[in-house]
Amino acid sequence: MNIQIQATTPFTDQRPGTSGLRKAVTVFQQPHYLENFVQSMFDSLSGVAGSTLALGGDGRYHNKTAIQTILRMAAANGVARVIVGRDGILSTPAASCVIRKRRTLGGLILSASHNPGGPHGDFGVKFNAANGGPAPEALTEAFFARSKTIDSYRILAADDVDLSQDRELALGAMTIEVIDPVVDYAGLMAEIFDLDAIRRLFAGNFRMVFDAMHAVTGPYATEILERRLGAPAGTVINGVPLEDFGGHHPDPNLVHAAELVARLAAPGGPDFGAASDGDGDRNMILGANFYVSPSDSLAVLAANAHHVPRYAAGLPGVARSMPTSQAVDRVAAALGIRCYETPTGWKFFGSLLDAGLISLCGEESFGTGSDHVREKDGLWAVLMWLNIVAARGLSVEQIIREHWQIYGRTFYGRHDYEGIDSNAAAALIAELRDGLAGLPGRDLADRRIATADDFAYTDPVDGSRSDHQGIRLVFEDGARIVYRLSGTGTAGATLRVYLESHEPDPRRHNLDAATALADLAAAAAAHAGILRHTGRAAPDVVT
Ligand code: G1P
Ligand code: ZN
Repeated sequence: MNIQIQATTPFTDQRPGTSGLRKAVTVFQQPHYLENFVQSMFDSLSGVAGSTLALGGDGRYHNKTAIQTILRMAAANGVARVIVGRDGILSTPAASCVIRKRRTLGGLILSASHNPGGPHGDFGVKFNAANGGPAPEALTEAFFARSKTIDSYRILAADDVDLSQDRELALGAMTIEVIDPVVDYAGLMAEIFDLDAIRRLFAGNFRMVFDAMHAVTGPYATEILERRLGAPAGTVINGVPLEDFGGHHPDPNLVHAAELVARLAAPGGPDFGAASDGDGDRNMILGANFYVSPSDSLAVLAANAHHVPRYAAGLPGVARSMPTSQAVDRVAAALGIRCYETPTGWKFFGSLLDAGLISLCGEESFGTGSDHVREKDGLWAVLMWLNIVAARGLSVEQIIREHWQIYGRTFYGRHDYEGIDSNAAAALIAELRDGLAGLPGRDLADRRIATADDFAYTDPVDGSRSDHQGIRLVFEDGARIVYRLSGTGTAGATLRVYLESHEPDPRRHNLDAATALADLAAAAAAHAGILRHTGRAAPDVVT
């Protein structure tokens, strides 16, 4: 075996964000860049020699090259076995499933999630731990610290391996096990849901469209929806994964999933629509000409989870990220269970899921999941909705409207200011933080501020503390304004402003969210001095 010790110099910009290391493809193509980061991971993890790892990605540009590099490095670092998805494919939730099912030391997932792909797009690498979830902060900090001092990495001098067939291969002393990327995941879904009920739905007149956005969920959705559940051929659109996602943003929202939205809006169109993102962990749910906000989706899933076999005995608790609307809190209160409020990012849910404190959680950013894996899971959320629609015999719109009747409607909006100057963004947040103490009791947009803080979180399981997770203004009527900076962007800074207000009066439930939140939005922009700090008079994206 020809193991090379390759000299290298450290990179100092490799601090992994909330979702691993995410950079432009051109950055990853620099000599030694990926290698440095991967060796930093191997050096920081204990028990790499002799271990089993999972490996796969969302199929974006550079996936194939990076997989070969990582395999050669794993072999040179003494890894015993790597379980890799055929053609290097594993969706993020499927990777989490494989790590858990096969009890591996962890896994490397290659993805930049919903960011565009292709030679001029983004790429990313993240490590998921043995529980199947994103590496905890202590570990990502260790990777970063190591990447600042690293001076060499280990790699096997070997040819590329053929990953196109399910079989075992040898690479030096290491075994590569190429697996069908869909089988384990589809098997897990069969354990969770009443697939017969969903099959009966499709055997009737019910029609859906699933937009895979030329990303990784294409093969998963085709197998599960069309082959196993009997949905007609053509139910899955844009189902062939492409390295550049067909030039689109593989991000399931009203802007980027325009084709799907148009189909659902057409007269006589399908009853149900859904889409997932680049790596398959996000979801958007649509009814016939009807949009389900992710925060409402989480609340509805919590209220109806008992219709799904896995959750029939009830939920121990639920959780939402801090900027996600409080709609699910109202359901938790009615169910008499605890609702945890965590910082943005899936890893905070992992600890609560591992401890059995919650079994359902979600984020406003089109992410929903449960204790079946330790990542958010796009197709799982779609199947949750299908199971509930089948069990209740109601349409998506009927289910949501009934929910609003019972709990009131929580209007919700997120305003993103993208690619702003990082210093200006930091100054804006610092100024907001400095002004917090004077806010309680003051009025903004005709509402009285009850509390104002910079969100800090103490993990109830391990006691670890996370500070500066977002500026939070809570009004006496329950409305909120939240400001935070994105942790996943690759250029400049992105400021996110989150707005919500609760409307108990059913006569006002038909307002559109933008109208209902207009005053709050204007007050939020003025209060933070967004124009003054950033020169931006309006957000780039409103969801
Ligand atoms: C965004 C979302 C967040 C999600 C993350 C990874 O992070 O807002 O909810 O967990 O992507 O998908 P942000 O860019 O806001 O830091
Ligand atoms: Zn994603």
